[in-house]
Amino acid sequence: MGEAYAPRRVFTRRTFLGWWLASLLTATVITGAAPLLVYLWPAPPKGQKKTSIAVSIQQAIDQMPSGTAVKFNSPTSPNSAFIMADGGGDNAPGELAFGGFVSKDEAGKVQVFAQNCSHLGCSVAFNATDKTLDCPCHGSRFHLNGTVLHGPAVYPLAHLSWKQGDSPTTIQVEGIVLGF
Ligand code: FES
Repeated sequence: MGEAYAPRRVFTRRTFLGWWLASLLTATVITGAAPLLVYLWPAPPKGQKKTSIAVSIQQAIDQMPSGTAVKFNSPTSPNSAFIMADGGGDNAPGELAFGGFVSKDEAGKVQVFAQNCSHLGCSVAFNATDKTLDCPCHGSRFHLNGTVLHGPAVYPLAHLSWKQGDSPTTIQVEGIVLGF
C-alpha cells in the first residue's frame, strides 16, 4: 500500500525572515502610534471632576490698592488644583496650576492668574517695588494685567476662572479635586 501524499510544510530561512520582518514592522508601527493615540484620546484623569474651589485670600479684593497682587495656593486637603482658562507658551487651557494671584492693575482692574510663567512654567512672584509679576528662572516679567513686560516669555499669564466667594476674603476658583 502506498502512503498518502502529505505536503510537507517547508520552513525556510526566507519564511523565517519574512515573519520576523513583519513582526518588527508591526511593533514599530504600534510603538510609533501609541503616543499619538494617547495624545488624541487622553485618558480621563482619575478622580478629577471640575468643581469650584473655595480659596482664602490675605486681603479683601475691594481693600486691595491698585498695583498689587495677592498670592494664593490650591488647597492640599484634599489635594486640589486650579484649571487654566487660557494661556500660551508653556500654559494652555485645561492645564493645572497649584497657585495663583489676584491682581489689581494700575487701572484698578481685577484679574486672577495662574502662577505659572508662560515661558517654562516656573512660579512667578509679586514684585511690590516695580508692581510686576517676575519669574525667578530666566528673568521673564509680567505686568499686573498679565501681559509680558520682559522675555523670554512671549505669551501672557494664563487666567483662572473665578468669582467672589461668600466672604470678602474668599474667592471661588475653577479647579479639580485630585484627591491624593
Ligand atoms: S520659566 Fe519663567 S522665564 Fe523661564
